[in-house]
Amino acid sequence: MELSGRVALVTGASRGIGRAIARRLAAHGVAVIVTASPRSVEGLQETCALIRAAGGRAALVTTDLLEVSARTHLVAKAAAAFGPIDILVNNAAGIPTYALPSRVELAARQSLFDLNLQAPIDLTQQALPSMRDRRWGRVLNISSDTVQQPEIPYPGAAKLVHGLTLYAASKSALERFSLGLAGELHGSGVHVNCLAPTRIAYTEGAATVARQIGATRPEWIESVEMMAEAATLLIGGNYNGLAVKSRELLQQAQAPLHALDGKTVIGDAMSLVNFDANDTR
Ligand SMILES: NC(=O)c1ccc[n+]([C@@H]2O[C@H](COP(=O)([O-])OP(=O)(O)OC[C@H]3O[C@@H](n4cnc5c(N)ncnc54)[C@H](OP(=O)(O)O)[C@@H]3O)[C@@H](O)[C@H]2O)c1
Repeated sequence: MELSGRVALVTGASRGIGRAIARRLAAHGVAVIVTASPRSVEGLQETCALIRAAGGRAALVTTDLLEVSARTHLVAKAAAAFGPIDILVNNAAGIPTYALPSRVELAARQSLFDLNLQAPIDLTQQALPSMRDRRWGRVLNISSDTVQQPEIPYPGAAKLVHGLTLYAASKSALERFSLGLAGELHGSGVHVNCLAPTRIAYTEGAATVARQIGATRPEWIESVEMMAEAATLLIGGNYNGLAVKSRELLQQAQAPLHALDGKTVIGDAMSLVNFDANDTR
């Protein structure tokens, strides 16, 4: 895996999985541009500070991905920092509504699909021409295991499970888009994959639900290091056209789980989150 000297743009990198992936890529010598909305500038500064303190290169750009005119320029703005983008990680997403599928209104549907599907497609289309010209590129889209209807009995209240339906539909569409694009780009040197937490990643956004479910189902919860490890494997390897879950990829690759420094081995595909240990979110 030789990523040193590459340039990555990671969305939603003010915290959680996005921050972890940005830190891990930087640990492998990738110059990273982190982005989130202007409301998260402090989180982005903290991500940059963590990367620089570890000896890495980082810059930040703020853009509200729900603003179509602003996101149109995001890849060009990011490329001004360290040069053309080699690696695009579409991680930013949200669940702006938990409305039931029978009732969810058009405005809520539009903004959910805009953030979780249209924005990643826009950024990918912006990054692709330069990746294709240089015959190397990696697009990693972050998905969710909710793309599958959960098994019965449900893991929680049915209302919450059904309230995730539109979010899950946006991630299903993102997966299908990614696999189709990977097929289109076959042989171009640009690889496109999707990665999801196996169940729930212990992040700020998911901390409450992770603690609740983790009390009885600890095996459902994973650390952000697990996602960063799997992301690094997908980006650094020759994988193309995959939609995989973090633990499965580590298991298939027989890969150790590293800390975000990329060096210290802290476990493997089976590792559980220790809620009592120092919080690494
Ligand atoms: N955590 C889990 O258990 C889990 C499970 C399945 C899938 N995922 C997926 O993993 C990814 C990251 O999850 P996470 O738990 O780390 O998320 P998170 O803690 O909620 O962070 C989301 C990131 O996206 C950014 N973002 C949201 N709306 C934005 C907007 N309009 N414009 C620009 N940036 C925006 C947020 O920054 P702002 O403050 O600017 O909004 C933040 O940096 C998401 O794609 C999520 O769907 C997570």
